[in-house]
Amino acid sequence: MHTYSLSLLLLALPAAAVEIEQRVDALLQRMTLGEKLGQMSQSNALRGGISPEVKAEIRKGRWGSFLNAGSFEDRAEAQRIALKESRLGIPLIFGRDVIHGYRTVFPIPLGQSASWDPELVAQAARIAARETAAMGIQWTFAPMLDIARDPRWGRIAESLGEDPYLASLLGAAMVRGFQGASLDAPDSIAACAKHYVGYGAAEGGRDYNTTWIPEAELRNVYLRSFQAARAAGVATFMSAFNNLNGIPTSGNVFTLRQVLRKEWGFDGFVVSDWNSVTQMIAHGYAGDAAEAAFKALRAGVDMEMNSTSYYDQLKSEVEAGKVDLKLIDEAVRNILRVKMRLGLFDKPVPTAPDNAAMFTAEGREVAKRLATESTVLLKNENRTLPLSKSIGKVAVIGPLADSPVDQMGCWVRDADPSEVRTPLAALKETLGAARVVYAPGLKVSRDVSRAGFAAALEAARAADAVLLFLGEEQSLSGEAHSRAFLDLPGAQEALVEEVARAGKPMVAVILAGRPLTFQKVTERAGAVLFAWHPGSMGGPALADLLFGDAVPSGKLTASFPRTVGQTPVYYNHMSTGRPPVPSDLGIKMGMPKDPAQDTAKYIDVDYTPEYPFGFGLSYTTFEYSNLRLSSPTAPMGGTLTVSAEVANSGAVEAEEIVQLYTRQLAASVTRPVRELKGYRRVRIKPGQKQTVEFTLRTADLAFYNERGQLVTEPGAFQVWVAPNSARGLRGEFRVTE
Ligand code: BGC
Repeated sequence: MHTYSLSLLLLALPAAAVEIEQRVDALLQRMTLGEKLGQMSQSNALRGGISPEVKAEIRKGRWGSFLNAGSFEDRAEAQRIALKESRLGIPLIFGRDVIHGYRTVFPIPLGQSASWDPELVAQAARIAARETAAMGIQWTFAPMLDIARDPRWGRIAESLGEDPYLASLLGAAMVRGFQGASLDAPDSIAACAKHYVGYGAAEGGRDYNTTWIPEAELRNVYLRSFQAARAAGVATFMSAFNNLNGIPTSGNVFTLRQVLRKEWGFDGFVVSDWNSVTQMIAHGYAGDAAEAAFKALRAGVDMEMNSTSYYDQLKSEVEAGKVDLKLIDEAVRNILRVKMRLGLFDKPVPTAPDNAAMFTAEGREVAKRLATESTVLLKNENRTLPLSKSIGKVAVIGPLADSPVDQMGCWVRDADPSEVRTPLAALKETLGAARVVYAPGLKVSRDVSRAGFAAALEAARAADAVLLFLGEEQSLSGEAHSRAFLDLPGAQEALVEEVARAGKPMVAVILAGRPLTFQKVTERAGAVLFAWHPGSMGGPALADLLFGDAVPSGKLTASFPRTVGQTPVYYNHMSTGRPPVPSDLGIKMGMPKDPAQDTAKYIDVDYTPEYPFGFGLSYTTFEYSNLRLSSPTAPMGGTLTVSAEVANSGAVEAEEIVQLYTRQLAASVTRPVRELKGYRRVRIKPGQKQTVEFTLRTADLAFYNERGQLVTEPGAFQVWVAPNSARGLRGEFRVTE
């Protein structure tokens, strides 16, 4: 029976896949239990170099994978031993956190997402893959697909923002970029969809914290980007750290077996996150390492990262008849299948790193374009920007103006800071060094000393405009770097206040790993650009934007709160029974006011965000008009065309990200007040207009109901063609049975 169904399955596969299954089976039959558990174990032991003990272990088949593995030479030697000197010659797979670039650093993922440009994001991942593969590494722990609605959470930097539709598009683009046309190509690496799943919903924005996500919400919001990565052919998944609805995600049978394997048919392998198997003991979900190992294996975690409970515990558990060998065979099959897909059994081990693949002109160009497209213009009063190149002198002030490491952002392990182009260096190139007066004012973003203030004020007085480079240093965002305050750290606000005394036009450029709150700076500066941590080419990108060689086009993918007390604040929330009304607005921050009516608002701050999802200005202005629907009704299963005219009413040619949103007014479960359904990046010349058209299928309106079924329900809808999630032209239509 078993052989019969297996051969039926094989009949359905292409020849190459059949061959892989047969090779995997043949190999599996020759493996001892110890060798199987070795394949299921990933070690950090090559971090500092390859010791005689580790060499002996590789020979013995103790490890299937290493992360953070030493130098190119160490990896090559380890791979040679695995292939030539271990009993079965099974290759190792080397994994690394190549999150937003290897040697060429692209903007942090949250920044990349603000470009809304899947093609460019895919190109960046392609370049990262080339550089990574050139160093003998075959696997990156990216993309991170966690939906992040809370800027307190340090890992929002690694995310693609708060919207599941956009995160799905961009995450799939990253998968395509990393994996290329074929996984076994010399410049392809395996991607890893992480952290599966719900990790971004950590209570209080505190990293590793508990998450409670009802199934419908899980499916409608948190699973979508992972499903898109699966559809894009992602080779591996990583189970997360978080406790999801009482079951840690690294032991979660529902998410890993039911959803990932059964519903989505995933046949690659799942790696745990770092020690997340044995952390189930601290979670209170396993009494000891043996139980943790069993529960992770039962759920379908194939490879254990760093902790060693699989290797240490499962042998005796199998021998005692407590763990079914079939579970282990299945895990090993998944791992070997991916190793074969990557061609690791057949490709020659590279003998030298390919330095020509590193930090190439093409890579720098993509990094610059992505930094340019991801920068968001938040304010531009009286056309403060762009500055004229015939300006006399500019004062460059602030701790982020010339800080290569900080502008690279979190999770950068392999870049060379000396290759990073800072804003200061780029501005000197644009204007000539003599016209740039540099006085940082503060040494780092957390600096509280005013020792540098006098020099900064003097620089401002000597200049015609002041460029402030403010924000967060590298180490303030990323894993385990949650913040309970979202202000600019250190004495940065005080520095801005001091420098403002010079009375010169001021532009603030903020480089940070998360949405921040900086109203005092916004009030004083004529213009504000939010550049995230923009990576290697952040400086030249910003110089182009500041002087008009490029026009800002990025739009926020995470809502910016007015104050940390509003978090989480995100655009695609549900209504309430008492939605706020416009007269609830206009509250002075921090000044409690007696409510006029009982609505879902705050009495000491407006309920709206400071900047909504989708928001971003340009050096030109765009007018939206003439919303048209092809019909006021769409029959179930049919389509509707929605269009609007977008006119460039300003003076420069520019790109606008035109967004399509819908809302279902009543359904069997409540639906968000707006949901992004599509968008277009259009380039329009001054004085011209374009008709931007969207095709909306009723299937695009589907959602998971409370029984976990994907349904489109008939009823009344609103639709917007909009410049951001808080504005736009609104129309109505009905979906009929
Ligand atoms: C992180 C993962 C990362 C892994 C390996 C963990 O702490 O959560 O995102 O891939 O370490 O470095």
